Amino acid sequence: MPITIIDHPLIQHKLTILRDRDTGVKEFRKVVGEIAMLMCYETTRDLPLEEVGVETPVAPARGRIIAGKKPVIVPVMRAGLGMVNALLRLIPAAKVAHIGLYRDPGTLLPVEYYCKVPPDIAERDCILLDPMLATGGTASAAAQVLKNFGARSIRLLCILGSPPGLDKMQSDHPDVNVYVCAIDPELDENAYIVPGLGDAGDRIFGTR
Ligand code: URA
Repeated sequence: MPITIIDHPLIQHKLTILRDRDTGVKEFRKVVGEIAMLMCYETTRDLPLEEVGVETPVAPARGRIIAGKKPVIVPVMRAGLGMVNALLRLIPAAKVAHIGLYRDPGTLLPVEYYCKVPPDIAERDCILLDPMLATGGTASAAAQVLKNFGARSIRLLCILGSPPGLDKMQSDHPDVNVYVCAIDPELDENAYIVPGLGDAGDRIFGTR
């Protein structure tokens, strides 16, 4: 499985703002969107293009546009929702699927509670959004949900990754391209990423 660490200076600067415990909800939400937009730019580098004719005000020209059906953006609820609007700014014609998974506090295993995907998902590139790749249980389950609906091309965008999460994605879904902005060294006893940035959903939605 290809893992890409997006270490662009702008992303690393913004990630430090997210890590800061004193960053409030308004700023946190804004910066998550900014990072998501920069990640989208990086992760869509290899989208296929097709050549088309276009009339400029001066003369006929050849241009290139994204080939085929537009991608489907798939936030894993709840925290993934914080990245959606940023991607839609760059890919306004994208479809949006939703996958609802929560981590059972006892078993720490993912439990599905909602799922809605477009019927033609097999013909679209899926951009799966889950800001925190901790144990990898949720992201792996979400990728499996998409595959069960026929998805064949999946990119996973996580702001932060961890070694166990990356290992799990590698063994469960070697075909999924994973993009992270940083890999933190460990998880605590509640499966939070250390040092991490806390609970991404709570910090995006102000429920802490
Ligand atoms: N989910 C979060 O929001 N934060 C973590 O550190 C791990 C999982």
